Amino acid sequence: PPIDECLSLYDFEAVAKSVLPTAAWAYYSSGADDEITMRENRNAYQRIWFRPAILRDVEKVDFSSTILGHKVRPTTIYITATALGKLGHPDGEKNLTWAGAEQGIIQMIPTLASCSFDEIVDAAKPGQVQFMQLYVNKDREITRKIVQHAEKRGIKGLFITVDAPQLGRREKDMRQKFADEGSNVQRTKGESVDKSQGAARAISSFIDPSLSWKDIPWFKSITKMPIVLKGVQRWEDAVLAAEAGLAGVVLSNHGGRQLDFARSGIEILEEVMRELRRRDLLKNGFEVYIDGGVRRAGDVLKAIALGATAVGIGRPFLYAYSAYGHEGVSRAIQILKDEMEMNCRLIGAPTLKDVTPDMVRRARHLHA
Ligand code: FNR
Repeated sequence: PPIDECLSLYDFEAVAKSVLPTAAWAYYSSGADDEITMRENRNAYQRIWFRPAILRDVEKVDFSSTILGHKVRPTTIYITATALGKLGHPDGEKNLTWAGAEQGIIQMIPTLASCSFDEIVDAAKPGQVQFMQLYVNKDREITRKIVQHAEKRGIKGLFITVDAPQLGRREKDMRQKFADEGSNVQRTKGESVDKSQGAARAISSFIDPSLSWKDIPWFKSITKMPIVLKGVQRWEDAVLAAEAGLAGVVLSNHGGRQLDFARSGIEILEEVMRELRRRDLLKNGFEVYIDGGVRRAGDVLKAIALGATAVGIGRPFLYAYSAYGHEGVSRAIQILKDEMEMNCRLIGAPTLKDVTPDMVRRARHLHA
């Protein structure tokens, strides 16, 4: 269908499913085990309802904000890291770079991008902000080089993924035999890639499961980039991250692709904010992001109301460029902006500062 028939982020998913090769669809759409967490990422948003305020003069709404000090024009979402972009489209992750430039949205570049890191950085416009997602290699020299190279190339934030010491079992993906060679696999010498385990497992054997809190000072010593932990799932770890002097955390379960029965980011956000506030750990600008299942601007507003600085969106943008290239991504972001403007009006919030905890109420069951 023509692109302007896509009216919501869900529409891109339907189109992508019909155009993607089976193996690509399996890799992008799969979750771990019984996919309970993947579904919960959507369900959790359905348990939060709005308490709109009336008569607040919402003729003009301004939902601009900043992420790690960088202005995002004009909404508080970012493109999160998703691996193997060329499974969906020959231009791979560059589609996200181009759309990010068009829409003023930050892109997080994945370690396991299909395009090379430099290609993705080169595709950015001067001044365009990009972050980097890091999987930590068992060989720390490789990781040191990657991190320092990223900083030299102007990357503005390092997001270390901490929820994947081993890749989850995504059975849809494992049933496919991984054949794509378009990945940037960091192989240690002599190691071969086992292609019988699906795309995810085939490319992830370099990731270091021994990574621990003891490594954090080392990361701080090799880079000046702000460091954020991606994949935090309990308030205790958010507190440790803030106490370690990091810049923030992403409350995330990796899009339901890692531990099944992990809770969703929106579910744990409240307790994380409460415990950080109680210990006065938000004062140095520590930021909390969430991702997983965000499909509507209403979801974004629920996250903002409960204390998130920004939200990451993954699969919808993959689906959008698989179907329509970078224009698809641009349109998806535009749809979110339009929804955002309307939702801000309807809840009575002329700016994001007005999106406060009293704007939402948690229902005990799926439907209030
Ligand atoms: C991911 N995600 C991810 N995260 C990460 O830190 N490194 C990675 O390489 C990947 N790769 C990846 C591939 C694919 C196909 C998906 C769908 C996801 C997780 C991603 O950053 C994010 O946490 C989720 O995608 C957010 O959930 P939604 O928006 O996809 O529901």
